[in-house]
Amino acid sequence: MIVRGRSIAAALVSWNMGFFMLDDLFQTIWAQLAIPVGPVRNPYRLMQLSTLDEQGWPVSRTVVLRDADARAGALYFYADRRSAKCTQIAVDPRVALTALSPCGLTQVRMEGLATLVEDIGHRRRCWSAARDKTQALFRHGAVPGQVIESPEVAYERIQGGFEHFAIICIEPRALEWLDLTRPVQQRARFLRHEGLWQSSWLAP
Ligand SMILES: Cc1cc2nc3c(=O)[nH]c(=O)nc-3n(C[C@H](O)[C@H](O)[C@H](O)COP(=O)(O)O)c2cc1C
Repeated sequence: MIVRGRSIAAALVSWNMGFFMLDDLFQTIWAQLAIPVGPVRNPYRLMQLSTLDEQGWPVSRTVVLRDADARAGALYFYADRRSAKCTQIAVDPRVALTALSPCGLTQVRMEGLATLVEDIGHRRRCWSAARDKTQALFRHGAVPGQVIESPEVAYERIQGGFEHFAIICIEPRALEWLDLTRPVQQRARFLRHEGLWQSSWLAP
């Protein structure tokens, strides 16, 4: 990996000045992906995750980016273990992610492999750190996607929640960045090969 440690502030300075070095751009993208919940906004907090269903059709939905590990090249999301996306990942781990910055002019997209984190320690740490609001999403007894008579029915049976709590880990093998904020639009591609990222500019 070519990612080095870098402060969010330094990354954002480069962001505002424009990029001339692909290495700088790559580090800044990961620094932004890794911005935790707090005063600095993570522009890519909401992502569209696409999986493949049992017939091979792509299925997309919005998910919250919970964590990003630049060194490992991994992104983490929470989901209900019983949801369609988790079932689909278990059958075919190929996924795509797309995120649009709040200004609507910068896009990050990735393709890679997804796995469900089985490390119980990791799951417990994330569960304990999750806010009540997040934990509550996993407590209802109804299976996500199940047909119900009315919305309230889903909340009739309350459970602990942890048993449904899954962490999806996605390791991108390709990452593409597009910036339409400048007169000269910038599009860059980063491909991971045997642990190293190779970069190139692309025509937008
Ligand atoms: C703003 C927003 C954030 C969401 N975040 C998540 C999330 O982090 N994890 C998740 O499983 N679903 C999340 N959802 C719900 C999914 O988009 C989707 O409807 C649900 O997970 C069922 O997807 P599936 O049946 O394809 O598995 C979010 C929806 C919205 C509108």
